[in-house]
Amino acid sequence: MSQGRIPVIFDTDPGVDDALALLFALAHPDIEMLGITTVFGNVEVPQATANALLLTHLCDRDVAVAQGAGKPWRKAPHPPPAFIHGADGLGELALTRPATRCADSRSAANFIVDTVMARPGEVSLVAVGPLTNLADALTLQPDLPTHVKSIVIMGGTVLEPGNVSPVAEANIWNDPDAADRVFTAGWPLTMVGLDVTHRVVVTVEMLERVAAAHQHPATDALLHAFRFYANFYATRHGHLVTQPGSYAHDLLAFMYLLHPDYFGTESGVIRVALEGLAQGQTMMCRQPFMHYAQAGWEANMPQSKACMSVQSQACLSLLEETLMQPWLSP
Ligand code: BDR
Ligand code: CA
Repeated sequence: MSQGRIPVIFDTDPGVDDALALLFALAHPDIEMLGITTVFGNVEVPQATANALLLTHLCDRDVAVAQGAGKPWRKAPHPPPAFIHGADGLGELALTRPATRCADSRSAANFIVDTVMARPGEVSLVAVGPLTNLADALTLQPDLPTHVKSIVIMGGTVLEPGNVSPVAEANIWNDPDAADRVFTAGWPLTMVGLDVTHRVVVTVEMLERVAAAHQHPATDALLHAFRFYANFYATRHGHLVTQPGSYAHDLLAFMYLLHPDYFGTESGVIRVALEGLAQGQTMMCRQPFMHYAQAGWEANMPQSKACMSVQSQACLSLLEETLMQPWLSP
């Protein structure tokens, strides 16, 4: 392992904020991107794979991309939210990956297992889509949690209202069964949910500065996609009309990986509501001394961390500094 670099597998459904997170990760010198695994969510999974291949191509990085789950474990799939990310997931970018850039022959779950087991105890997973691939990897390799260094998830919420229902966040709601499997697997897991992602607004203006500085197809594509995404956010949130931008969501998973000191966390058992009006809700036991009698909240259930506060300005400064440095070849 190169000194100081964090080896990472990025599990993603690109998606505009996924694309921002990916470019940040590729630009950051302390992240060693071992591979990208794709999942349905913001788009159908073949499109997610095509987008990952396109984005890595634009950034001139030959990172492995392995395609994963095309549907949830049990619930019926929901149509992708084209009104948020565009029909192509990248704000109607109208670019296609070159035919020479192809996906890995392994499934995402197999790729995750192979890559983690090749470097036991070293690899971190950053997952920013529905958690189906991670749950599938646990089925393939039940002791995977003891071999993973850490896992950071963008998804869920503890106190902040949901974004697909009053209580559910989109990634968890898209596959609640897989998410509950992942939250109870017993690995060093941190949830970066809406409690913090709704506190950090990335502005279009910042990405305009980045694009102007680089004059590069990768940052131009990001700006194009991000403008589309910001237009959606402006229809929902008044403060994003005067200062166009969007919540940082997936980006913050990498921020946590690099800078856990930017976040305040709480620990506790996190479970997911599988059915009914609360489907997809992440419920955290914040009072372990209560010894609840209901099954599922036993004292020996694995605990996770949830991010509850964030230093917003520190995250935004790190984003801009990272994207501004000369990380793209001319
Ligand atoms: C999450 O849902 C997706 O739309 C975004 O990419 C992000 O991962 C936010 O709820
Ligand atoms: Ca995502």
